[in-house]
Amino acid sequence: MRRKLVVGNWKMNGSRAANATLLAGVVAGLDGARADCAVCVPSPYLAQCQEALAGSAVAWGAQDVSDKPCGAYTGEVCASMLTDFGCRYVIVGHSERRAYHAESSDLVARKALAVLDAGMTPIVCVGETLAEREAGSTVAVVSRQLGAVLDMLAPARVAQIVVAYEPVWAIGTGKTATPAMAQEVHAQLRAQIAAKDAAAGASVQILYGGSMKPDNAAELMAQPDIDGGLIGGAALKAGDFLAIIHAAP
Ligand code: 13P
Repeated sequence: MRRKLVVGNWKMNGSRAANATLLAGVVAGLDGARADCAVCVPSPYLAQCQEALAGSAVAWGAQDVSDKPCGAYTGEVCASMLTDFGCRYVIVGHSERRAYHAESSDLVARKALAVLDAGMTPIVCVGETLAEREAGSTVAVVSRQLGAVLDMLAPARVAQIVVAYEPVWAIGTGKTATPAMAQEVHAQLRAQIAAKDAAAGASVQILYGGSMKPDNAAELMAQPDIDGGLIGGAALKAGDFLAIIHAAP
């Protein structure tokens, strides 16, 4: 069985004081967890994570990265800076980046490649809007988004990515895809990965994100192709985040 992975995406939240309490709470409550876990935090707090989490079972990472190497790109953060702070994961293509920063699937693919080249794991986000779901184009949309990344990777590297299916209409809304709805999309994504590389199809972790909470996490993660969660709001409270981690079978 693939190991489950639960990743907290703090989005643009945090303060040094609040982070210290949250991180200590998560570390203190991990005993007996069967899932791997990580937090993806705003870049200014990566040093704090490195200090608080080094040697613990909690990995850390960033929420975005430049597709470019170091250089004259004011305001950007390149992949080698993230490895400098011990990051294991980098979220790429989150729907909030696609929507508010006009990130194309092509740019997301280049970012995923930059993350891999730096020795980290990209968490590649895909997901449809409500209008796209209602138009019946969910599979077409997520396949196109994932396909842009797969097209840029040699088959041997496909196994090194993590995918997150995050229906845009379920993010921060309290609306969750039912386990069956999510499973159907996850199975499609897995088939698409397997078509590129059979071994990767079997091993790549596909996370679900979108209002995953302590009370629905177990049922979602019990689905055969749901390998964990990418958690927004519930990752900001140690108790809720831990409850989701412990809900992994
Ligand atoms: P919520 O869990 O707050 O719905 O956010 C999901 C998400 O976007 C995680 O990346």
